[in-house]
Amino acid sequence: LQKRVLGKSGLAVGEIGIGCWAIGGPDWNLGMPMGWEGVDDENSLRGLQAAVDMGANHFDTADVYGHGHSERILGRLLKTTNRSDLVIGTKVGYFRGTAPHSYHPLNMRNQLETSLSNLGTEYVDIYYFHNLNFGTTDEYLDDAVAAMVRFKEQGKVRVIGQRGPHIYAPDRLKAPAQSDDKYERFLNVTRVICPEVIQVRFNMLTPWITDRKRDIFSWAERHDVGVVINKPLGQGLLLDKYDPLHPPVFGAGDHRSRKSWFGPKGLHILRGRLAQIKARFGSTLPDMVRVALQYCLAATPNGCVVAGFKDETQVAMNLAAAGRDLSTEEVEFVRSVMAGIGQEVGSFFVGSNSK
Ligand SMILES: NC(=O)c1ccc[n+]([C@@H]2O[C@H](COP(=O)([O-])OP(=O)(O)OC[C@H]3O[C@@H](n4cnc5c(N)ncnc54)[C@H](OP(=O)(O)O)[C@@H]3O)[C@@H](O)[C@H]2O)c1
Repeated sequence: LQKRVLGKSGLAVGEIGIGCWAIGGPDWNLGMPMGWEGVDDENSLRGLQAAVDMGANHFDTADVYGHGHSERILGRLLKTTNRSDLVIGTKVGYFRGTAPHSYHPLNMRNQLETSLSNLGTEYVDIYYFHNLNFGTTDEYLDDAVAAMVRFKEQGKVRVIGQRGPHIYAPDRLKAPAQSDDKYERFLNVTRVICPEVIQVRFNMLTPWITDRKRDIFSWAERHDVGVVINKPLGQGLLLDKYDPLHPPVFGAGDHRSRKSWFGPKGLHILRGRLAQIKARFGSTLPDMVRVALQYCLAATPNGCVVAGFKDETQVAMNLAAAGRDLSTEEVEFVRSVMAGIGQEVGSFFVGSNSK
């Protein structure tokens, strides 16, 4: 697997890494479905093992994925794998427990120790601030960063990571947010956190930013910060695996049940666009996986993708897309086919007007 270096962190990871959100299984957090249904632990473990066998070295999880379940499955892999060969990322910030805030230093300490125990490891390679909500006046920010720095000094964390521009999940249900706000917010906390790696959502559905001053990839290159790209497959949407006439029905505990992209209108619009991609690049599932992942990898030399999975077949297909770059002209073609799709689909969440 070709390696990418995550900027100044110096971490060398396979260009395609393994996202472990789905294998946490169905889950609820903050009053919302936040997991994935249809998961089988033994299939998940076989998928993880296949990833190592195929040369993957980067695994991304979070304390909150299945409330520790994802970390514990990954911990089973770590028992039989040379720990120092792997780059493990996990996150803190979406689970508050009984603390006044999820970024209260005591809660962070508790979550880190629990993550280490779940994973069965002495350290995590990348420890991310999973969201940018540090209290109404950022009253938890300074202490949270000090806690992170202590974790690093103690050797429990190698690299500090931070979520890219985004809206705190519960706030997305409230009001339409401006993308400018997200970016400004990101810049403001970044000045305090000084992350070495950021994690951003990016895929063929993401509007292309032409202004370099507002483009997260340009920012990361200027600051030599590594970028881990999540949701590269649009959580399955970009593979054209759903029929708009028979949209999927997700069970309780699956976050996709509240996303309008998975409804008939979103799928119908998507199918029309993806037909053009298929006509050019091939129409099989592996063809679509390759275009989706390589489109993301073309966005930055400092970054990698983490692709989620449910089983060994998906892992093998996703890793097989490595090294099969798209040309600049092909990337531009994809971009032009997908341009404006977000506006056409409309609201992001079912029953809300938030993007
Ligand atoms: N920092 C953050 O806040 C954040 C946010 C989101 C994600 N992430 C990380 O990024 C990772 C990737 O994002 P994601 O998992 O949300 O979305 P994704 O990688 O875009 O999509 C993953 C899903 O697509 C389907 N899939 C994957 N490979 C497939 C294949 N070859 N053929 C058919 N279907 C396939 C699977 O779901 P089905 O089989 O059910 O279709 C899988 O769970 C996560 O696992 C997580 O580690 C981080």
